[in-house]
Amino acid sequence: MKEKDVYILAIESSCDETAAAVVKNGREVLSNVISSQIDLHTVYGGVVPEIASRKHIEKINQVIEQALREAGLSLGEITAIAVTYGPGLVGALLVGVSEAKALAFALKKPLIGIHHIEGHISANYIEHEELKPPFICLVVSGGHSHLVEVKDYGEYEILGRTRDDAAGEAFDKVARAIGLGYPGGPKIDKVSREGNPEAIHFPRAKVAENEYDFSFSGLKSAVLNYLNTCEMKGETVCQADVAASFQKAVVDVLVEHSMKAVKERGYSSFAIAGGVASNSHLRQALADACSQRGIRFYFPSPIYCTDNAAMIGTAAYYEYQKGVRHGYELNAVPGLKLGERL
Ligand code: KG4
Ligand code: ZN
Repeated sequence: MKEKDVYILAIESSCDETAAAVVKNGREVLSNVISSQIDLHTVYGGVVPEIASRKHIEKINQVIEQALREAGLSLGEITAIAVTYGPGLVGALLVGVSEAKALAFALKKPLIGIHHIEGHISANYIEHEELKPPFICLVVSGGHSHLVEVKDYGEYEILGRTRDDAAGEAFDKVARAIGLGYPGGPKIDKVSREGNPEAIHFPRAKVAENEYDFSFSGLKSAVLNYLNTCEMKGETVCQADVAASFQKAVVDVLVEHSMKAVKERGYSSFAIAGGVASNSHLRQALADACSQRGIRFYFPSPIYCTDNAAMIGTAAYYEYQKGVRHGYELNAVPGLKLGERL
């Protein structure tokens, strides 16, 4: 252990994963512990905020202890405590924020609050040593769809965002409608392999005011209308064809907007992040589009795409280096904007 090494204990509890990680010098993950609540929420078809908060309280100490044990470090050897303080479910965020504040206070260590999306973007640094800003990043998760210009560590310009549903939300809603259950993304991904993506033509929405923005609610309605029409006509629905055609419609739009941003902003590096970034069809389509254009394409392993604390530790390292520190007044901010520091 060198004097100047920076060990960050990071905590993430913004939605339905209770997670803690220890990250060394920004990019070396010493431990990454994730306690998922998915099974608890599956019966309700989505995340129930109250249940999420209670489960975080139950799990958080265990998860932190395990993260320290796996990293082979004691609390005293940690340089700083990082935590997601927004956006997310307020009750869920509060559990992580309160825990981080208590640890920072008791240990007299610096406290660093991190934006959840900044964490998702930073997940790309973990496995790609050569990746440095600037680059374009597509962030697609259950709650967000953002096309971001990463100008520097911690400096972002949002080029486009969703006007209604997030990409992951659309996956989850369509999966429920075709009887696949929650969480829908991975299930649609799998079932689509058996389906024909050209079987049904679903709309690719354009947003007139900002060509980088997304809109997925029309697509979701088109799928529901298709299902209703089939039912009224007494026709059987091919689940795999609906899944594959829906997925193709989402992927086409994500790829088109991303490539437009890379070209118009003159970048040669592009990255993806968030839960939907683990979608195999999206990865393949983006890999093809990038290779045709000579663009370097970066994506995290699936474990770093969905919610985890290692990505928060990585983001926190760069904030730490910039001198960002939070006081004990740090609070959960459910609607925190990317690039905003409170
Ligand atoms: O990033 P994440 O874990 O949580 C949020 O910050 O929202 O993303 C969860 C979302 C869910 O909507 C889930 O259905 C979606 O990511 N997802 C996928 C896949 N794996 C997870 N969507 C499409 N294909 C996948 N393979
Ligand atoms: Zn997330």
